[in-house]
Amino acid sequence: MTELETIRPSGRQAPDPARSGLPTLRVCVQPRQNPYSPGAGRRPAALVGRDGELQDWSVALQRLENARPAKSVVLHGLRGEGRTVMLGEFHRMAEERDWMTVTIEANTSSPLRHTLARALYPAVCELVRPNAGDKLTKALATFKAFSVKVDLAGAWSFGFDLVSEQGRGHVGGLDADISELIGDLAQAAREQSRGLAILIDEAQDLTRDELKVLCAISHQGGQLRWPFVMALAGSPSLPRVLSKANGFAEHVFSYREITQLQDGAAGPVLTGPAAAEGVRWDEEASGT
Ligand SMILES: Nc1ncnc2c1ncn2[C@@H]1O[C@H](COP(=O)(O)OP(=O)(O)OP(=O)(O)O)[C@@H](O)[C@H]1O
Ligand SMILES: [Mg+2]
Repeated sequence: MTELETIRPSGRQAPDPARSGLPTLRVCVQPRQNPYSPGAGRRPAALVGRDGELQDWSVALQRLENARPAKSVVLHGLRGEGRTVMLGEFHRMAEERDWMTVTIEANTSSPLRHTLARALYPAVCELVRPNAGDKLTKALATFKAFSVKVDLAGAWSFGFDLVSEQGRGHVGGLDADISELIGDLAQAAREQSRGLAILIDEAQDLTRDELKVLCAISHQGGQLRWPFVMALAGSPSLPRVLSKANGFAEHVFSYREITQLQDGAAGPVLTGPAAAEGVRWDEEASGT
């Protein structure tokens, strides 16, 4: 394998080496060093143009840590404009602040209660300590009703043979199930001075009942000052679908449209990572 693979400029003039003294990406790419690897949901080498959204999220986490209310977030926009990448950043920021954080992707073939319970298992295990408090014990009871076995020593396993604890996470009642699961966990997190962040991608694929439950739990969390926040990402129809599911949705969520990067903002996406490798783009090629 060659160290340097040459991409021949097709129909263009080769750059004048005397002009910059640096190679340009139009001519050579080093496969082992190439900083660009675009792909769906993949964090770009340079994340640009979303400072407002990131700042708002950071403030929301800090407000909740201080027992101040903060709205959950809805990111909506066309395909390919960076919604999943934003959720990834939200996830990273919450984890950095030691929040219990899960990201799931809604899909039409699996009910939310299953996807969510599965994703939350590792988070619950993280919370389990020998001196687990009341709230965690209650959360474990709810998990038990979700057909998962978690004991106070931290061992957990899937299983469908467990008997539900009377009245908690009882199979069939979607509303109560998910509310109890999230509510118990948020309070268990608070018991350990942490928060709970639930991030859901492709949220337009949730059923109306599921969206309704998420609105209700977010509202309840706000009233009870739980350290709990959600971010939903989805298609442009998501705000409409949400408000149909629950007329109260716009009071519970703060909506951010994820649009194409503004003119001029996109340039650094190309030039920044190259510059870090000591490579300069031609202005003409990068559009800057
Ligand atoms: N703020 C940004 N700065 C630079 N690149 C970005 C930014 N946001 C997204 N990208 C890049 O754009 C591409 C699409 O991003 P992403 O997958 O997050 O979009 P999406 O809206 O979730 O699309 P999909 O319809 O596939 O779900 C990815 O390659 C990603 O790295
Ligand atoms: Mg996506």
